[in-house]
Amino acid sequence: MPDIINLGFLGCGNIGGGVYHLLMDMHDEILKRQNIDIRIKRALVKSIAEARNDVPTAIMTENADDVLTDPDIQIVCEFMGGEQPAASFMQRALANGKTVVTANKMALALNWSALAATAKSTNAGLYYEASVGGVIPVIRSLTVSLDADEIDEVMGIVNGTTNYILTQMAQKGSSYGDVLAEAQRLGLAEPNPAADVEGYDAAYKLSILSSIAFHTHVPYAKIHREGITGVSPEDITYGREMGYTLKLLAIGKRTGDSIEVRVHPTFLPNDHSLARVDGTLNAIFNHGKYCQDMMLEGRGAGDKPTASAICGDILYAAKHLSMPLAPSFNNTDEPEAHISFTDNWICRYFIRLDAADTPGVLSSVASAFAARSISIASILQRPSENGLAQIILITHEANEQSVQDALSSLDPATVQVKSMIRVEA
Ligand code: HSE
Repeated sequence: MPDIINLGFLGCGNIGGGVYHLLMDMHDEILKRQNIDIRIKRALVKSIAEARNDVPTAIMTENADDVLTDPDIQIVCEFMGGEQPAASFMQRALANGKTVVTANKMALALNWSALAATAKSTNAGLYYEASVGGVIPVIRSLTVSLDADEIDEVMGIVNGTTNYILTQMAQKGSSYGDVLAEAQRLGLAEPNPAADVEGYDAAYKLSILSSIAFHTHVPYAKIHREGITGVSPEDITYGREMGYTLKLLAIGKRTGDSIEVRVHPTFLPNDHSLARVDGTLNAIFNHGKYCQDMMLEGRGAGDKPTASAICGDILYAAKHLSMPLAPSFNNTDEPEAHISFTDNWICRYFIRLDAADTPGVLSSVASAFAARSISIASILQRPSENGLAQIILITHEANEQSVQDALSSLDPATVQVKSMIRVEA
């Protein structure tokens, strides 16, 4: 006799619809391969009258209790998005001993410790492969495959919307605003794009990734976040001339007990594996003591790829109901006492200045850097249209605080800082 697994959905929009259709399409194959009979018993929707996606209305309900308290439902799949009520519904499901599968990075990153504690107390599973990088199996890789390693770096393109915008800006030389408007017209960016373009989405994902990679809870609040709204086509063009490609990166590094976690536009050398990951694709590059460099790449969004990752979690959960998988760290709200977080990281810097084209100005810039032991690796000077000189320089490795100090020490009457972009190797 096959094992019967009853699912309850919380939400049934694009992603829920994608999961429903994958499970219908693959039902008999899964039954044959795994001897598991997956049934979707209930789906919570806001309004049955407005339901879409060809999911039968007979399984729909507008009452969350029909999913959360049904004793036949073993696995609850959360597709609501947003922090609430998704997080409290997941809490209730876990408290009732139900395994939860979610792709909701925001609800997870902001409530992870509490959700994990409830899951542990009822021996329920909590799975979230699709929350970072869509179909890319990065959560499973870090949780299982690399669990014996010591990961010291995770660096990812984890937001497809911003990667699309930066790729288009680079290929067409268009402004951020023009490309965003086009992306919105094509449905590739949300009407309210803030979560993507301001880097919130990437920061939630980095909190999840770096916690698993570094075996300690990395709270969302510790992440330095900058989005792409200030990126100009000039920066992308000058960067390219100097051999660099611009990406919005989510970067986590651990050195001993010190962790740095940051999301910001970043120049990468053109030959870096992440530099060629274009359009809406996502990729996560890891470095570890034993695995060394490795990269996973694939579709970070879309109903089908996301459904594939979610259904992978559902099947894993179905086969391990009494022995759920969890990452190997103490998931407490506060990071462990010996861990510290730094915002004074070390990297290289791309700096673009508008400077008065008069004697001594370049030397004042050089002095400001030299006084803080910042060494300049390359420099480019171009006349600009308004009689000022455009100076673009790339530093050797320097610490963030020294670079910020040097830039704020420049006399704004003669030198204006147009941009400062971190450069990673
Ligand atoms: N909005 C996200 C992106 C997809 O653009 O990558 C879901 O995380």
